[in-house]
Amino acid sequence: MLESLNALEKEGLDALKALAQAEELPVWYRTYLGRKGRLTEVLRGLGVLSAEERPHAGRRANEIKTALESAFETRQDELRAAEMEASLASGALDVTLPGRPVAPGHLHLSTRMLRRIRAIFAEMGFQVYEAPEVETDENNFELLNIPPYHPARDMWDTFWINDQVVLRTHTSPGQIRCMRENHPHPIRVILPGKCYRYEQVTPRSEHQFYQVEGLAVGHNIRITDLIGTMHEFARKMHGAARRLRIRGSYFPFTEPSIEIDMDCILCAGKGCRVCKFTSWLEIAGAGMVHPVVLRNGGYDPDQWSGFAFGMGVERPAMLHHGIEDIRYFYSNDLRFLRQF
Ligand code: DAH
Repeated sequence: MLESLNALEKEGLDALKALAQAEELPVWYRTYLGRKGRLTEVLRGLGVLSAEERPHAGRRANEIKTALESAFETRQDELRAAEMEASLASGALDVTLPGRPVAPGHLHLSTRMLRRIRAIFAEMGFQVYEAPEVETDENNFELLNIPPYHPARDMWDTFWINDQVVLRTHTSPGQIRCMRENHPHPIRVILPGKCYRYEQVTPRSEHQFYQVEGLAVGHNIRITDLIGTMHEFARKMHGAARRLRIRGSYFPFTEPSIEIDMDCILCAGKGCRVCKFTSWLEIAGAGMVHPVVLRNGGYDPDQWSGFAFGMGVERPAMLHHGIEDIRYFYSNDLRFLRQF
């Protein structure tokens, strides 16, 4: 056995030396080191050896394997270098030719918006909590105080996976996950992510879109904290002169619930097509986390309070860039994407 191993090593090394072109390397490799190659063949024969001989032969076989492999690498480098030199000498490779430009890609407009939003909230001390896009009915509705047959479910036309599993219709179910994971500690997070609604696709509504949810839970958190946070965000995102307007609203998971408008970024309140001559743009739904929701998250509403908000991502980008059709975001037309 040892003899045939030694012979194999010599034969392999000689054959390697005899190769004239890099092209021939793979055949050599297959013949000597491949899965069905000579060395494997010899190794298969190890089984018939006696218990004394076997470790000896095994060790030698491994040495040979390493030796052949390293000889292969060396020979490969030699042959490639020789070929490169030959082609340079013959002028076939003109190293003075200018390179071809690579077309670099860039981030999608939605991604850029998301990153800006994250950065602004990070400055205010908000961490990012990621929650899944496939959710239980329980998290998406029930634990957010939207029981089955509650009329508020009409607001979220839903893609159902099965009786109990949905594509999340908003980022709010992440609130439940985040609270259950963190109680009894204070929370200050945003929850960015993709949402889905079973809707007619039109220039104004897509069945997939991004939201950024916010959640703060602590002792003595008040609605003024919410309004201050949103004001700071609006100014950092849309300019230092921004003003907010608060309207009463209704969401099952907040009490009280509000909607937050910002003075129009285009006309600053004079009235234009973007704000439909109302002077205001809606930027978020929000409110104080409902006691039932706090309790579902593991927080005692007598000890804890919190605020939450939810905002869109595509809509403000559309306002900013004068994009008139939300479908552009998901149709991957380079003529659109390259503009941002
Ligand atoms: N989840 C709501 C929606 O998709 C948005 C929302 C409103 C989120 C109020 C909130 C909130 O956290 O407090 O329409």
